[in-house]
Amino acid sequence: MLPRCAFSVCHVLMLVLCLSAAEDFDWTKNDHGSFYYGTFPAGFSWGAGSSAYQTEGAWDKDGKGLSIWDVFSHKKGKIQQNETGDSSCEGYYKVKDDVSLIKELKLNHYRFSISWPRLLPTGIKSDHINEKGIQHYDQLIDHLLENKITPIVTLYHWDLPQVLQEKYGGWQNISMVNHFNEFANLCFERFGNRVKYWITFNNPWSVAVEGYETGEHAPGLKLRGTGAYRAAHHIIKAHAKVWHTYDTQWRAKQKGLVGISLSGDWGEPVDISNQKDIEAAERYVQFYLGWFATPIFHGDYPQVMKDFIGKKSVQQGLGTSRLPTFSPQEKSYIKGTCDFLGVGHFTTRYITQKNNPSSRSSSSYFSDRDLAELVDPRWPDPGSEWLYSVPWGFRRLLNFVKTQYGNPMIYVTENGVSEKMLCTELCDDWRIQYYKDYINEMLKAIKDGVNVKGYTAWSLLDKFEWDEGYSERFGLYYVDFRNKNKPRYPKASVQFYKRIISSNGFPNQREVENWRRKAVETCSSSNQLLAADPLTSHMEMVTEIVVPTVCTLSILLSAIFLMFLLRRRN
Ligand code: NOJ
Repeated sequence: MLPRCAFSVCHVLMLVLCLSAAEDFDWTKNDHGSFYYGTFPAGFSWGAGSSAYQTEGAWDKDGKGLSIWDVFSHKKGKIQQNETGDSSCEGYYKVKDDVSLIKELKLNHYRFSISWPRLLPTGIKSDHINEKGIQHYDQLIDHLLENKITPIVTLYHWDLPQVLQEKYGGWQNISMVNHFNEFANLCFERFGNRVKYWITFNNPWSVAVEGYETGEHAPGLKLRGTGAYRAAHHIIKAHAKVWHTYDTQWRAKQKGLVGISLSGDWGEPVDISNQKDIEAAERYVQFYLGWFATPIFHGDYPQVMKDFIGKKSVQQGLGTSRLPTFSPQEKSYIKGTCDFLGVGHFTTRYITQKNNPSSRSSSSYFSDRDLAELVDPRWPDPGSEWLYSVPWGFRRLLNFVKTQYGNPMIYVTENGVSEKMLCTELCDDWRIQYYKDYINEMLKAIKDGVNVKGYTAWSLLDKFEWDEGYSERFGLYYVDFRNKNKPRYPKASVQFYKRIISSNGFPNQREVENWRRKAVETCSSSNQLLAADPLTSHMEMVTEIVVPTVCTLSILLSAIFLMFLLRRRN
């Protein structure tokens, strides 16, 4: 009797413990207000990120070929203010400076991308390898490693060689799979002795939808209803091929990992008691992150995508679905090609069911989903139009990944917030708030059991923000683009992020409040420094152009005057 009783007491106790733990970390509850003080697992990796076209500049230097972004940004009317990435942050020339900034933050890793046309100017390996391009990344990788910073390297952050676009139609063409594989193989060969974390594609959703469906991004094609699906199909195959190349040819020797970085907003049902809204929200996430993650983890597209696009295609009188299909061999080849999953996340939407008409002329990725997106007007939106700060969505998305894909190893590869500021502002307390809350939700997700190994703040520097030009600043460091030297200045969020890193989390309320106070104090003095900068640039112009011109003119005038005097004497 006694042992049984002891057992049931234990049982009840365990149940209470479980319940209270579940209450702390019940991810289905919108515990907006609660902040969790605690630390990240030992060895958690803290980082910041960038990408080649957004920061390097040097678009036509040292033998680099053109990318689709070079060409697209030079076309009038494609980018805000017709800006380009021609010089951007001049990162190509500032490897040492930027590594110092990374050191200053005490980051464990730095995420950057390799520009394909900088290495292979035509995109095709057998044409020509640009050794100067190789040297640039050698220098960056070596410098990072000398400073004990782990490089996490993306192979494709949107800058497809222009020749491949012109010759084959870019990602519309299956031949990209082999060309990309050759490029990736070259990177493994040249850098794989030092790089152990590879990301094949960054945010393929954007490449497919914004590059081939809406045309807001390079190459600017508007192939509505088909272009995005076709591009994604080839990207997924290219990813799988590169993973297999690494697995069979390099893994044993180099012992690295190959993953992909997928972006995904979280979709929350408007009415959580309405089954149609619940299904619509699920569809939103499946059409976003699931579009790529499901083939990679389970071998095929999400069932809901197959059903919806298939059904609409029939209604539109098409013989086959606009969503391409994988053969059984392809499915098993693609399934399991992910050593870690990169997750890029910025924001959330409320979702409700909405039936879209399925005429052939209106067919599009967006109308295929049969849903409407809503936002809560109370959500803060300091910068980009699409970016509302909704920290709890991050925890939900991470839990979704855990349950849907068998709790894979996750690196958060992008998370951050922009600002739309006409005047200079280094005191970015809204960014501090964003990082604090989003990182805290990630900590809660880890407590939920999500296997997150690292976090990458997006981005290290202000940089070229694609079709938005330089109007949206995501950087921890402010870049003065008006000054040709592109100087970097720390925003207050640098101080705050640094504290999170050195404490590996959030020790207690008092300390975290102190961090914020100190960060904001130090930024105001830097702010004054920068506010004086137009004067500095003005002074530079005075010393570099006006003074020499005036001097030369005075010398000339004096010489003429002297000659005139001498002549008169004679
Ligand atoms: C995702 C993209 O990968 C990155 O390049 C961009 O800067 C951020 N989104 C913010 O828009």
